[in-house]
Amino acid sequence: SVWEKHVRHSAHAKRENGLVVLVTGAAGFVGTHVSLALKKRGDGVIGLDNFNSYYDPFLKRARQGLLEKQGVFVVEGDINNIALLRKLFDVITFTHVMHLAAQAGVRYAMENPGSYVHSNIAGFVNLLEACKEASPQPAIVWASSSSVYGLNSKVPFSEIDRTDQPASLYAATKKAGEEIAHTYNHIYGLSITGLRFFTVYGPWGRPDMAYFFFTKAILQGKPVNIYQGPNQVDLARDFTYIDDIVKGCFGALDTATPSTGTGGKKRGPAQLRVYNLGNTSPVTVPTLVAILEKHLKVKAKRNVVRMPRNGDVPFTHANVTLARVELGYNPTTDLQTGLKKFVKWYQLYYGGGSSSSSSSSSSKRRLRP
Ligand code: NAD
Ligand code: UGA
Repeated sequence: SVWEKHVRHSAHAKRENGLVVLVTGAAGFVGTHVSLALKKRGDGVIGLDNFNSYYDPFLKRARQGLLEKQGVFVVEGDINNIALLRKLFDVITFTHVMHLAAQAGVRYAMENPGSYVHSNIAGFVNLLEACKEASPQPAIVWASSSSVYGLNSKVPFSEIDRTDQPASLYAATKKAGEEIAHTYNHIYGLSITGLRFFTVYGPWGRPDMAYFFFTKAILQGKPVNIYQGPNQVDLARDFTYIDDIVKGCFGALDTATPSTGTGGKKRGPAQLRVYNLGNTSPVTVPTLVAILEKHLKVKAKRNVVRMPRNGDVPFTHANVTLARVELGYNPTTDLQTGLKKFVKWYQLYYGGGSSSSSSSSSSKRRLRP
């Protein structure tokens, strides 16, 4: 069929011993960057995304356009659809699955808890079932989250620190994913690597994240809400630039060893790994706003909210020694530099003006994929 032709073409690795990767959440922020970078390196890539409307569907379609221009085909479907996954695994022998599809966002979990259970728990289990059945089994690298450290107060966070105090349902579902990974590794010998991303930002980013909608509000002359933690301390995040995250994902993919396959030959011991991928230098939210003001050359209207919000953790700060040693991870982009690149992209994509329309208005998109 035409579908199969697209899938095979997209999965074709151009370099010798190239990886063949199924990227779930490929039309998402991180998924788009990882897929493009894999394709550029000569690996075979197939995307999968359900294009849900959690945020601006136009942005997801624009990312898809970018991907397809580079030869990455994005299958439209849900990770809960086992028939679709089986069909994909049937047509293509994947060496790796880069699992980035999820319901993201910390505070939206209070509005729509079911979507977190659907994608982050049921969907993850469904995907692991498909990987378990595949022969040979692919190695899995998936996005956990810094949020698993929850209300842990020992900084910086190391992988061995406690993760038993999730502050949001989102965090709880990511933590559940780590436990589920343990089970599938233990029983079925799947190689699974969890990456705890720390507040990732950059071009083609997520409109629901603070740096993104602060930019929009500042340009529109609207106030930005600066939330605080308990005792009115500034919240701080270990903001991590997308290119650094992509390199960390490559480090994980390239050191992942697919293990046994049902009936397949053993290719290595089944791995169960988890790594922090952060920037190692947290920045407060007021400083985030100040950097955006500088790059946008517009003063922000600040509205400091002195009540802590449910779901938020006071700070995040990664210790990335383990990823440095084992994955060759080395974050190099500071927030000033990274936000400059984001702002440049934002102004190209939406136009620099103080448009009052929402980001979902396609007419405001100037950058065509
Ligand atoms: P994103 O929302 O931009 O990307 C996720 C993509 O997955 C979306 O395009 C969405 O349509 C798709 N998706 C969601 N549920 C699906 C389902 N059931 N079936 C198929 N597709 C589905 O988010 P992102 O920022 O690119 O995040 C990627 C991953 O990294 C997620 O797992 C997220 O939880 C995790 N993460 C992100 C950050 C960050 O700061 N961006 C930090 C920590 C962890
Ligand atoms: C982000 C992502 O949204 C999650 O998907 C991800 O899992 C998480 O990082 C992570 O590191 O694991 P968060 O750090 O809460 O979550 O990102 P934002 O929503 O962009 O918020 C950043 C900071 O700005 C937080 O301290 C938040 O409280 C603050 N904020 C947010 C405000 O002060 N005002 C707002 O209006 C919104």
